[in-house]
Amino acid sequence: KQSVKLIVGNWKMHGVAADLVEARALIESVHDVRADCRIALCPPATLTDRMRQVLAGGRIELGGQDCHQAPSGACTGSVSAEMLVDAGATLVILGHSERRGAFGETNEEVSAKVEAAIAVGLEPIVCVGETLEQREAGQAAAIVSAQVEGSLADGLSERPFAVAYEPVWAIGTGLTPSLEQIAEVHAAVRSAMIRRLGQAARRAPILYGGSVKPDNAAEILGVSEVGGALVGGASLKAEDFLKIIRAA
Ligand code: G3H
Repeated sequence: KQSVKLIVGNWKMHGVAADLVEARALIESVHDVRADCRIALCPPATLTDRMRQVLAGGRIELGGQDCHQAPSGACTGSVSAEMLVDAGATLVILGHSERRGAFGETNEEVSAKVEAAIAVGLEPIVCVGETLEQREAGQAAAIVSAQVEGSLADGLSERPFAVAYEPVWAIGTGLTPSLEQIAEVHAAVRSAMIRRLGQAARRAPILYGGSVKPDNAAEILGVSEVGGALVGGASLKAEDFLKIIRAA
């Protein structure tokens, strides 16, 4: 079991400047949390620079929620990896199921985004996860293994990164897999990471995401191979997110 957990809050498309009060509250409360837990917040792109100012000098890291695979160009509405770095981010979530689903992102595109991110020094958090239909068909481990092998780029063997296992049916639903199911898929993810990148992939944490809440965080974070959590809804309120951090 890994000792240093990575707890990441994904604000998704929530948050305007007034909501930075939650980041300020988190900063004020987090100083007594045990030092070997990493904490990051991923606000909407428009808040990244302002959140950098709020988090300055503290222990909370800053991330983006996506980036384009191209360094620059005619890509209206997109944000490049370099722009995230420029705004203060050091991590980036890539291949979230909401992007794979609603925006049709393929493993190949996610892999290209990973390359773009590591080219500018961002630490990617690569998301994978099965749908309910795939789970019910007994394909969960096979689907996430294929996503891992297709989405991880070669350059990752020499870079810090994380994989996040997020069952699509557990995101925002209040449903979670059993602890046994989480352990089983995390083991499959680890095997796929090693097949893809070799032994270097042993040190990258595998986060669990999908309805992580203050009341289930400790048991989920205690599962073998769960190296942290990717938290959506419960990261929007400092009080809830702090309880999850304390469980790490
Ligand atoms: O990135 C976060 C996940 O999609 C989980 O979201 O905690 O609201 O279920 P949730």
